[in-house]
Amino acid sequence: PLVSSTPLLQAARQNGYAVGAFNVHTLEMLQAVVESAEETDSPLILQSTVGTVKHLGADYLAAAAATAANRTRVPIALHLDHCTDFDTIVQCIRAGYTSVMIDASMHPFEENVAQTKRIVDIARAAGVNVEAELGKVGGVEDDIVVGEHEALLADPQDCVRFVELTGVPTLAPAVGTAHGIYKGDPNIDFERIRSIAAAVSVPLVLHGGSGIPEEQVKRCVALGMSKMNIATEIRIVFSNAIKEVFATNPDENDPRKYMIPAKKAVKAAAIEKMRMLGCIGKA
Ligand code: 13P
Ligand code: ZN
Ligand code: NA
Repeated sequence: PLVSSTPLLQAARQNGYAVGAFNVHTLEMLQAVVESAEETDSPLILQSTVGTVKHLGADYLAAAAATAANRTRVPIALHLDHCTDFDTIVQCIRAGYTSVMIDASMHPFEENVAQTKRIVDIARAAGVNVEAELGKVGGVEDDIVVGEHEALLADPQDCVRFVELTGVPTLAPAVGTAHGIYKGDPNIDFERIRSIAAAVSVPLVLHGGSGIPEEQVKRCVALGMSKMNIATEIRIVFSNAIKEVFATNPDENDPRKYMIPAKKAVKAAAIEKMRMLGCIGKA
């Protein structure tokens, strides 16, 4: 069965590695990251955006993820990424999600606390993990758009108060990464990661994982990040592999002929991230 992501992330935090959390949009993408985890003996977090829940259905996603979890010995959690609305969170928990993100980071601190606490109380009863965001991660993720100048880093003392007031079991503090591919190098505030990790004991989540150079990913993990979200990069490799098939064979009409290479590309990309995060062999 699917497991809560809380123990996976606590183990990561205690042992100095991070778990990869991959946003999937199709059955093949889901299978690809599951195979990556299986082959490398890695714990895994499957994620879906709210947009993909609307596109495929929480029940279909939960059924596919549960099937994967039941077929394998590596622990797998299913997480709802960046959700701003209460009803979708409840719907996903009912469908079998084992982790949810309440993203109220666009609201003032007190409102973020209130919304997060409400979800923490519901999720605790269901044995479901909760992630919340403090500060504002820049870039575009699904329907959430945060411009470069709106992005805001999380304050370590706010993190302490936020965790105390909400009881949230995992926290995503904005530390300078952004959703999507970076124009230059990301501008990560490593000192801030160090102070937040020293100030709170809950596992920390790094958003905007696509495009961060390997050396910087490793530094983030060494400083205390326990989960990294990866969305854009696997969408790109998946789509590029399909484009390549059609470039050489525009008349291809067997979905397996383009899905198999797409799946292979995602699998290789996911293994590469797992290696950087240090979670290989930790299942
Ligand atoms: P990227 O699209 O940069 O990988 O960010 C993923 C993310 O943070 C999803 O929540
Ligand atoms: Zn994110
Ligand atoms: Na990114």
